[in-house]
Amino acid sequence: KIPVIAIDGPSASGKGTVAQLVARKLGFHYLDSGALYRLVALKTMQLNTDTQNPIAVAEIAIHLNVFFKDEHIYLDDTIVTNAIRTEQCGIVASQLAAYPQVRAALTERQRAFRQLPGLVTDGRDMGSVIFPDAVLKIYLTASAEVRAQRRYKQLIEKGMNANIADLLQDIQKRDERDSSRSIAPLQQGVDAKLLDTTSLTISQAQDAVLSWYNDMLAR
Ligand code: CDP
Repeated sequence: KIPVIAIDGPSASGKGTVAQLVARKLGFHYLDSGALYRLVALKTMQLNTDTQNPIAVAEIAIHLNVFFKDEHIYLDDTIVTNAIRTEQCGIVASQLAAYPQVRAALTERQRAFRQLPGLVTDGRDMGSVIFPDAVLKIYLTASAEVRAQRRYKQLIEKGMNANIADLLQDIQKRDERDSSRSIAPLQQGVDAKLLDTTSLTISQAQDAVLSWYNDMLAR
């Protein structure tokens, strides 16, 4: 069976950065599942589709013409790597992610990333719904304040505008929406290891994941 490391957690916790580093270290494939929800959000906005209509949004998710190459994401042959990172896109993504039809439309697309020699993936329901048989499940989190700072740094580095107070508010709102929805709510699974990165560096967080993985292999 192809090994999967599933890293779930709240907004801006750093799970994407850690997941990518672990994937690189192990030579595994990487799936940023949140990017798929953000892509559906971007396309929905481009087409002016009603975000309140789950069927219409699911239709967009089914036909999403997306392509991941190196560090870049292409939507209909246009690079949208930065375009999907706006707060607006994140907020709409979290609204659309609450529709069961949209989640169902993305399920197989996500599972298709499971290829040899293995996959590291991050999101909200990687360990609970998409890859329930993952060999290692991690719930990676940090305090809301630290997450707002991390998101701020990420946006500034991309040359985008940002304000810490607004980001903190967005993060709290998104935590609330992602945890309270009835389908695939954000929560630490009983079989997931808690990794609180509030006072950890990226490299310490990466080492923690790798050492859990190595322990698991040794067993
Ligand atoms: O890191 P951040 O939360 O800003 O963004 P993301 O991981 O790119 O995800 C954007 C939104 O997509 C989240 O707020 C979730 O509502 C949704 N999402 C989800 O429902 N399930 C996933 N596996 C990944 C993301």
